[in-house]
Amino acid sequence: CERQDRRHSKQRLLVVANRLPVSAVRKGEACWQLEVSVGGLVSALLGITEFETRWVGWAGVNVPDEIGRKSLTESLAAKRCIPVFLDEDLVHLYYNGYCNNILWPLFHYLGLPHEDWLATICSFQSQFDAYKKANQMFADVVKEHYQEGDIVWCHDYHLMFLPKCLKEQNSNIKVGWFLHTPFPSSEIHRTMPSRSELLTAVLAADLVGFHTYDYARHFVSACTRILGLEGTPDGVEDQGRLTRVAAFPIGIDSDRFLRALQLPQVKNYIKEFEERFGGRKVMLGVDRLDMIKGIPQKLLAFEKFLEENPNWHDKVVLLQIAVPTRTDVPEYQKLTCQVHEIVGRINGRFGTLTTVPIHHLDRSLDFHALCALYAITDVALVTSLRDGMNLVSYEFVACQASKKGVLILSEFAGAAQSLGAGAILVNPWNVTEVAAAISYALNMPPDEREKRHNHNFMHVTTHTSQAWAETFVSELNDTVVEAQLRTTQ
Ligand code: G6P
Repeated sequence: CERQDRRHSKQRLLVVANRLPVSAVRKGEACWQLEVSVGGLVSALLGITEFETRWVGWAGVNVPDEIGRKSLTESLAAKRCIPVFLDEDLVHLYYNGYCNNILWPLFHYLGLPHEDWLATICSFQSQFDAYKKANQMFADVVKEHYQEGDIVWCHDYHLMFLPKCLKEQNSNIKVGWFLHTPFPSSEIHRTMPSRSELLTAVLAADLVGFHTYDYARHFVSACTRILGLEGTPDGVEDQGRLTRVAAFPIGIDSDRFLRALQLPQVKNYIKEFEERFGGRKVMLGVDRLDMIKGIPQKLLAFEKFLEENPNWHDKVVLLQIAVPTRTDVPEYQKLTCQVHEIVGRINGRFGTLTTVPIHHLDRSLDFHALCALYAITDVALVTSLRDGMNLVSYEFVACQASKKGVLILSEFAGAAQSLGAGAILVNPWNVTEVAAAISYALNMPPDEREKRHNHNFMHVTTHTSQAWAETFVSELNDTVVEAQLRTTQ
């Protein structure tokens, strides 16, 4: 019955993520400038017309006054966004602290911060309390806006407590939770002081999703080993209640990239970049300036390649776009200095009066310039030390229909499981191996490039973000219906 009803009226989907897809800049007491950011999640959900979508999240600004909160809420409503207001102290402990200094490195196998580990351990409890408090605040906002029958889809490591908070408020809410990062081996998760509470909170969801089968398996084994629960082929069972656990690999809105390549402004950029870098092979890295992206390792591998291949000096350029991120977290500040130092050294060693081997930018590019860069690139270098999926590799493939460039991809990115057959897979810690891959890629014959590209292009254009979101949401609906049937039998 419920499946039939769903066909007649649009079901509402409340997407809850730490960050709204719109960032707000204050221009006056009650005046806001809103900028829409079309990240992976937004483009995934834009394509779904079957549901009426609302977003719940933090607007990324501190708004202490009532006038500001009211006016921002009204402005965001036009974009179907509902803000959660977090004050500065809470953001510091919850977002900079627990999310980005503890969960993020741990989930990416980097362990807890080494240098200030004592401070991290001492502030652990207050950060964890702030994390729970922030999650409860998200739940309270959802509660205000929830209507019976809505689906609530919680996203990412910032909101692991949210499923529990929501179900405590109303056990009938359909709750899904999706993790955009890796879920590490249970041996890593075991080191978390709050290991059990986090798992139990996530298990309150009806459906729990990951990018890869491995991450899902790690989660189930953490639940069996740490909580002593039963793992089944469908998920995790606790006293007869099943939390369904499965892999849902995300994709991109490939049409958006294909359409962009036809636009005059993108074609102009392509011409401009070809003139600028013409005569040299272009290698490209596009990453947030984050430890997990392996930017220093990538630079060291490129340096080794230049050392070993003097014939390539002057004939190749590495364009590294490093988008600043989480700049209030000390580990990220240290990384920026380290990257600048290595870039400076390599350019000093191998540059000439007129050219340098690395163009490094600490900023993001607009979408059209980015598409053009992807299109003119000969070799893309994705060397993440760990990465939930890595959609830069997908975006590069989508823009390479004519050039058929080569993708060098870390075996530790989730994307290695989907693009592995077309890419050259590398261990980013092994700079000798990555240097050899660079040489192989630059010298690859056209027919091999074409074969590899076609494989990946087919994957990227069929496993889209829209298909990902539709599959997750329909699986969530079905999971809830099946659970209801089981309890009435
Ligand atoms: C990763 C996370 C996202 C996050 C993004 C940007 O992709 O999985 O949840 O939004 O990084 O990080 P930021 O801290 O700026 O939101």
